[in-house]
Amino acid sequence: MPRFTTSPTEAAEALLADNLVALPTETVYGLGGFARSTVAVARIFSAKGRPPSHPVIVHISDADAMAHWARDIPAPALTLARAFWPGPLTVVVPRADWVSDAITGGQSTIALRAPNHPLFQEVLTELADQTKTAPGIAAPSANRFGKVSPTTAAHVATDLGPHLEPSDLILDGGACDVGVESTIVICVEHGVHIARAGGISTEQISEFVPVFDREAALNPRVPGALVSHYAPAAAVSVVRTSAQFQRERQRHLLGADVGVLGLAEDLESCPANWLRLASPTTVDEYAHQLYSSLRRADEIGLAAVIAIAPPNIGLGAAIIDRLDRASSGSAGR
Ligand code: TXA
Ligand code: MG
Repeated sequence: MPRFTTSPTEAAEALLADNLVALPTETVYGLGGFARSTVAVARIFSAKGRPPSHPVIVHISDADAMAHWARDIPAPALTLARAFWPGPLTVVVPRADWVSDAITGGQSTIALRAPNHPLFQEVLTELADQTKTAPGIAAPSANRFGKVSPTTAAHVATDLGPHLEPSDLILDGGACDVGVESTIVICVEHGVHIARAGGISTEQISEFVPVFDREAALNPRVPGALVSHYAPAAAVSVVRTSAQFQRERQRHLLGADVGVLGLAEDLESCPANWLRLASPTTVDEYAHQLYSSLRRADEIGLAAVIAIAPPNIGLGAAIIDRLDRASSGSAGR
């Protein structure tokens, strides 16, 4: 079992000694390793049970640090980094030659992001002071591969505790603000392609750079894009229309092991026997509570979760994306 800490200095020292440290970000907790350490990066993959072909995001302090990790920086990447960093946006750019294949899954690109969490930034500052270079922390979400991402330190301990060593740490920075992962954009000179919806909306991005659809052509390996990902054990049904809502109502009118989540205004007409897992009043609050609600459904042992989709704008797009994946992962179970 890893130890909990609240000290960024202790976290930086552990990283420099090739240990793993679960770190808070504004999106979800990451399982961090010093990105220059091949030992640490290999351990991230084994602790998560993640296939080696799936690359990890390298977390850096700011837009200036990008030049150290990238071979060249397409103009849209710099524009977006300046607009949204530190924040829930990951840019995929051509990688510097020295970056290891273990980080990039052998691809010619690297995913970079500057997280907006004071403790994480303090760890990066400590590493910069000690190493005199632009430090990077390789960190996928701190969950077992394919499972719901952690938004508290306790979630990390539950999921990964048995897979980590006593010399590893969990840096406790409280509950994550945003609650869903960063938006991933693949950057080329003339614009970006959104590979994963997340904390920054398509609408926000397209205010700064052209957004185009080239998923098939670019063919990135994004595990968060597998159809079944973020899957709880309960069977999740996503409700988008009132006809779908009526159907679920008929199916689960009497069931005692049914949970529901959705915007408070959409929950008013739900049967009383449905357990309110979350009833946020805004879309941002919905994102913030999404993963912990799905976890709670499993903790209580619910058989079914009915998720009422929020409007498909802003963070709503990321929520619907994760709900759809959760529902296809649990279908038939
Ligand atoms: O909010 C987040 O992004 C969180 C926090 C911890 O920063 N991290 C996260 O990491 O969600 P992970 O590993 O669960 O998802 C990162 C995604 C993966 O789907 C991975 O395939 C993709 O980023 N990725 C990494 N490098 C890539 C590359 N060179 N090209 C395309 N996709 C890449
Ligand atoms: Mg993940």
